[in-house]
Amino acid sequence: MRRQLICANWKMNHSLQDGMDFFLKLESIDYNNPQSDAVVFPAFPLIQPLSTIGAKIGIPIGGQNLNENESGAYTGEVSASMLASCGASWVIIGHSERRDIFGESNELIAKKIIAALSGNLNVILCVGEHLETREDGKTTEFVQNQLAINLDSISPDDMEKITIAYEPIWAIGTGLASKPEDAEEIMSFIRNWLEEKFNTDIADKTRILYGGSVKPDNMSGYAAMKNIDGALVGGASLDAESFWGIIKAVS
Ligand code: 13P
Repeated sequence: MRRQLICANWKMNHSLQDGMDFFLKLESIDYNNPQSDAVVFPAFPLIQPLSTIGAKIGIPIGGQNLNENESGAYTGEVSASMLASCGASWVIIGHSERRDIFGESNELIAKKIIAALSGNLNVILCVGEHLETREDGKTTEFVQNQLAINLDSISPDDMEKITIAYEPIWAIGTGLASKPEDAEEIMSFIRNWLEEKFNTDIADKTRILYGGSVKPDNMSGYAAMKNIDGALVGGASLDAESFWGIIKAVS
């Protein structure tokens, strides 16, 4: 049985004070062992202080990106071991904003996943299509190509630390959330692909999250789907009460 996982991707939002207030608020509304797991992904400078506060209520912290190299002359970049040394135990890789705005290729994302695993981090690998791809009826082909290259050299054992997030790009930050049934169709395709690439056990165990305009009032529709194991939430995760509302919707 897969436990639901609700992740907060704060993107480039929240100061350190905002982040601390978020956790204090969660504590005050009695965040106490819900039936699902939660992870918060703040901006890099907030990771160390928030990992200390998050540990008190059992919420791990992750980075939103990393560099594929271990160390060296890469001004402005952050490695897997640096994230881990600051208390991060997770990292998001291949978010569509990294792919589209920062030009990250499928091959680079594959290298970043290897780097994250070498640093013993849990990975959220994001995949998902643009609106044109969906309108052309090529969503499954597109997602399959992302997965095939991103997970090319990953072993079944490595998959223990990898979660997949299906985030249709047209649904991100637009309020145009995918219908749960439409997301389920692609996520069931992803699970079948995992079975073919790895085995039935991996396909059964791997959590697949939906992302794109998730809110407290639409989460239960996703959680009711057989192949949706939680959510990667942007805007609605910035406020503690709203994030808690999403967690409660699956508990
Ligand atoms: P929104 O929830 O704001 O649509 O963002 C989704 C997302 O990109 C999470 O990674």
